Amino acid sequence: MADVNWELFDRQVAACTMCGLCRGIRHKVPGQGDREAPLMLIGEGPGQVEDEQGLAFVGPAGQLLTKMLAAVSLPRERVYICNIVKCRPPNNRVPLPEEANACKLHLRMQVALVRPKVIVLLGATAAKNTIDPAFSITRQHGQWIERKGVWMMATYHPSALLRDETKKRDAWRDLQSLREKLRELGLYQDLLSGSP
Ligand code: URA
Repeated sequence: MADVNWELFDRQVAACTMCGLCRGIRHKVPGQGDREAPLMLIGEGPGQVEDEQGLAFVGPAGQLLTKMLAAVSLPRERVYICNIVKCRPPNNRVPLPEEANACKLHLRMQVALVRPKVIVLLGATAAKNTIDPAFSITRQHGQWIERKGVWMMATYHPSALLRDETKKRDAWRDLQSLREKLRELGLYQDLLSGSP
């Protein structure tokens, strides 16, 4: 993607009215974190707390996500975190295909800017909108695929883990697999130590 920069991205998201989700929100939630991170996490869409603060994954699911990262010694501030849609869907419903598609322009630009080596999709919506519309999170979580030199894997959304504790075992295995992949690619030590 030629001629992209963060200023353009920020302006594009701020001005966006490509779907109806921006009506009735308090804040857009573009995403945040290390803009040069080798690891990018993509969730579904902002919830209530995220909408209030304009930040991704800062509510209860976000707190669990921070703990999940810490369980494999990854400091949250060293990764980049964003969502499929940048505006909160009413009552936290799943974004409609046309909403997710409209917002892909922003997500593509984000990926082009961060240039992550590894992307983790959090939940079925993120996986369906990036890997495959027919993706089954129960059957395919933890499986790695490589696309254009970027390694991608989906795991359970932290909100799903808050609703159903029995999924935590599988999520833990996925996190260990993430750690292994980062090690294999020579990225883990840098992420741990805080060096660039
Ligand atoms: N759920 C998401 O998918 N994203 C957030 O930012 C918060 C909750």
